[in-house]
Amino acid sequence: MNAIVVYSSQTGRTKQIAQAVVSGLPEGTPCVSVDEMPKDLSGYDCVFVGFWSDKDQADPKGQEALRQIKNDNVAVFATLHDDPYSDQASKHLRGAVELLKPGSGVIGTYVTWTDKDKYMQVPVDESELNLDQARAFAQDTMSRVQKQ
Ligand SMILES: Cc1cc2nc3c(=O)[nH]c(=O)nc-3n(C[C@H](O)[C@H](O)[C@H](O)COP(=O)(O)O)c2cc1C
Repeated sequence: MNAIVVYSSQTGRTKQIAQAVVSGLPEGTPCVSVDEMPKDLSGYDCVFVGFWSDKDQADPKGQEALRQIKNDNVAVFATLHDDPYSDQASKHLRGAVELLKPGSGVIGTYVTWTDKDKYMQVPVDESELNLDQARAFAQDTMSRVQKQ
């Protein structure tokens, strides 16, 4: 089973989440920014794609990447300062999923909440990002890909 992790990040949080995700995946799994995303993703069993929320939707570069992705198993992760259990968060994710190329399937979704009072602060305090949960999301997602 092989995977790739692609992320869009402005202040570094989504990049850190992406690195935690890749730490839960087989050794050698690529982790690249959307600027370096390969055009052909058909060789991957699973594509993890991460973005940050900007004005209630995926950030512009994240949207661009989502539009280019076609894969049976796409795992979407987002960072946002809205409550991750809110209707608004579900709309963020739904909006992102709907950008994927037709025929794509979604194998998992994951949201990291960021503190609204600190969201413009750089560098990012790693302890606030629940990186263990992001790693667990990656492991759980891959185990579901394997079971298919
Ligand atoms: C310009 C801007 C707009 C944002 N808009 C939203 C938003 O509409 N909803 C939300 O939940 N978070 C919003 N955020 C919070 C970011 O999604 C959050 O800080 C995220 O962790 C940034 O990711 P990054 O560190 O990878 O760039 C916004 C952040 C910025 C800088």
